[in-house]
Amino acid sequence: MPSVDAYDKIILIYPLWWHTLPKAVENFLRSCDLTGKKIYPIVTHGGGGFGESVDALKSLTRADIAEPLDIYSSDIPASRQIVSEWFQATTTKKF
Ligand SMILES: Cc1cc2nc3c(=O)[nH]c(=O)nc-3n(C[C@H](O)[C@H](O)[C@H](O)COP(=O)(O)O)c2cc1C
Repeated sequence: MPSVDAYDKIILIYPLWWHTLPKAVENFLRSCDLTGKKIYPIVTHGGGGFGESVDALKSLTRADIAEPLDIYSSDIPASRQIVSEWFQATTTKKF
């Protein structure tokens, strides 16, 4: 697994599988300590939205979780601008 030590912000893009995170993503999160980092989740799906994946994410990692973005599968090819605007808004938001 590549090291993420050098990064403070991690954009995590995954498809919704069976209402939650794919096992490979779950294994990735279990394999590294993300304490002190911030995860920006992007969930692609076939109509199920975030499902239970963001709750699963929160329970699997100590990272801070930013407001997630969901993208319907048919919208993926045209999502560049949506992703860019979401990332801009999320990273500049004051909490
Ligand atoms: C094994 C599997 C399980 C899936 N489960 C769900 C689901 O529970 N809810 C949902 O909305 N979409 C589900 N999908 C659809 C994927 O989320 C969707 O295909 C993906 O986000 C779009 O990426 P792709 O174009 O690479 O398939 C599932 C797809 C696969 C292959």
